[in-house]
Amino acid sequence: MDRKDGSNHKETSEIWKQNEKQTDQEKSTAFGNMLERSLNATYLSMGLTLGGELGLFDRILEQDSLTCQELAEKSQTKQCFVNEWLGLMVSSGIIDCIPDSDPERYFIADYKKSSLQGQYSWLAWAKELSGYFKTYDTVSQCFKLSGPRGVDRNQLDAFYDFYENMDKESADKWSEMKSTFAQIPGLIQNFENGIEALDVGCGGGNIFISLALQFPKSTFYGVEISEKALQVARKNAENCGVKNIKFIVADATNLPKEWTGKFKYVHTSHVHHDSSRPRKVTSEIFRVLASKGSLSIFENGTNGRHGDKSSDPNYLMGYFISTFACVPNATYDEKAEEPLGVYVSKRTIIKMMEDCGFSASVVGGEDKSIESPVHNHGSTILHYHGLKN
Ligand SMILES: C[S@@+](CC[C@H](N)C(=O)[O-])C[C@H]1O[C@@H](n2cnc3c(N)ncnc32)[C@H](O)[C@@H]1O
Repeated sequence: MDRKDGSNHKETSEIWKQNEKQTDQEKSTAFGNMLERSLNATYLSMGLTLGGELGLFDRILEQDSLTCQELAEKSQTKQCFVNEWLGLMVSSGIIDCIPDSDPERYFIADYKKSSLQGQYSWLAWAKELSGYFKTYDTVSQCFKLSGPRGVDRNQLDAFYDFYENMDKESADKWSEMKSTFAQIPGLIQNFENGIEALDVGCGGGNIFISLALQFPKSTFYGVEISEKALQVARKNAENCGVKNIKFIVADATNLPKEWTGKFKYVHTSHVHHDSSRPRKVTSEIFRVLASKGSLSIFENGTNGRHGDKSSDPNYLMGYFISTFACVPNATYDEKAEEPLGVYVSKRTIIKMMEDCGFSASVVGGEDKSIESPVHNHGSTILHYHGLKN
């Protein structure tokens, strides 16, 4: 299920709604009920994660129906464990039983299937949770003054190795992206004439592959610290048949020396809040930009205050990821700067850009058109433009 429209977040917000007309006693009961539902949801999530990881859902989806024993055999698991897991899934309404079957036969109703299959299904997101379970203890230790600085990126693979696979059809999205790039004066004309452009922390490369398809006279570069991300990016470029793009493993805090003044345009999306040295990354970008070159940063831009997000579950997932992945990842490096956190404030980003020498402004907001589905948590993405005068 694609979460681009954010509709599911709106549904979730109902859980938190308070009724001002209630007495304190009623509010207290409703609050307790909400906590109970939240805990139940956590128990269920752990079961979803397990079933996703062990392929239990896949085995059920392959059949019209099957018994516990058949499921255990097909998934190479122990029946006594699978039996309890099935109880958890049936009692939470995820898996269905054929009435009066003996032994009981289990199935998944057709209308539930799309949420449990595919790269961006809810089950895929639930599977990602297993990574958080594995690092839970370390993150908990990191909170303590006497604890470790952060968590090694390699331990956070479940979160970071979630890059979008593309083919030519899905890469053809210039009509959706055009208005975003038009926010930078002259940029589209430059792409048409032919420039060198760099995507810092490009992940699976989706945005620049789309640009490379559209602008054959320009040369696009993507740098990534993660070799695994670039494997996806190179495969995506191959699938799309683009030749004017190069992917290079590099640390954005130390870009190649020979790149000074090379690029007319640098793009970076959702990298600063993940980076251990966001200010150093910004100053490196300043160095590799040509004079009059432009930088786009796509990042959150809140006012930095929690109170304004009170009882707003749109921010819940982002803060969860930031607590368990972004900040622990960003603080691991011994040279780490103060981490930004996922809902970094607009003022912080603008100041960081200005400190690095840019004329900085916000040129667009809340534009989802160039978002990968991975990043649709929260609703405060801004387009920051930095000009190297
Ligand atoms: C949240 S992902 C965003 C990926 C992509 N830009 C997008 O919007 O889909 C952040 C990416 O930044 C990369 N990254 C973080 N620090 C980096 C650094 N110092 N140098 C290069 N890449 C870095 C991570 O490996 C990760 O792939």
